[in-house]
Amino acid sequence: MKTYICQICGDAYIGEDRPSECPFCGAQHHFIKDGSEARPIVNDKIELSEISKKNLEETLGLEMKANAIYLCMAGKADNYERKAMYKRLAKVELEHANIACKLMGIALPQAGTEPCSEDDVENFQKTIELEEHATNLYAQFAKAATEQNIKIFFTALMQVEADHIKLIKNYL
Ligand SMILES: [Fe+2]
Ligand SMILES: [Fe+2]
Repeated sequence: MKTYICQICGDAYIGEDRPSECPFCGAQHHFIKDGSEARPIVNDKIELSEISKKNLEETLGLEMKANAIYLCMAGKADNYERKAMYKRLAKVELEHANIACKLMGIALPQAGTEPCSEDDVENFQKTIELEEHATNLYAQFAKAATEQNIKIFFTALMQVEADHIKLIKNYL
C-alpha cells in the first residue's frame, strides 16, 4: 500500500495503485503524486491579485450552489445509482468550494438549499448546463490568473467539470 497525494486538494489516497482521478476533488491523474513528491497548490500561501480574489469568490458561490443543487437532485433521483452519483458530485463540488476558501484564507460558508426538478432527464440537462457554464468560466479564470497556483487550480477544475459533462451525457 502507498500514499498518493492530490496536488489540487492536498488530500491523501491510500491504495496499491494511483487512482485515475482524485476521489475527493476529481482532479485528473497527472495531478496525483507519490506522497513524498506532492506539493499541493492549496498549501501555497500567497498574496492574491484583485482579479484572482474576485474570481475565487465567484467560484466559491458557484460551487456552493452546485453542491446544493446536486443534493436536491440526489434526493429526487429515480434509482440508487443516480442518487449515489449525485451525492458524489455534490461532495466533489463542496471540495472545490473548500479549496477556494483555503486559497482565500477564509472559512467555508454555511451550505444553503437550491430547488431542482422532479424529473431525472431535466436534472441531467440542468447539470450539463451548469457544468458547461463552469467549464467556460474556469477557462477564463485560468487565463486571467497571474499566480501559478491559481492558474493550476482553475485549469484542474475546468477539466473536472468537463469530465462531469461526459459522465452525465452517458445517462442521456
Ligand atoms: Fe484532489
Ligand atoms: Fe466544481
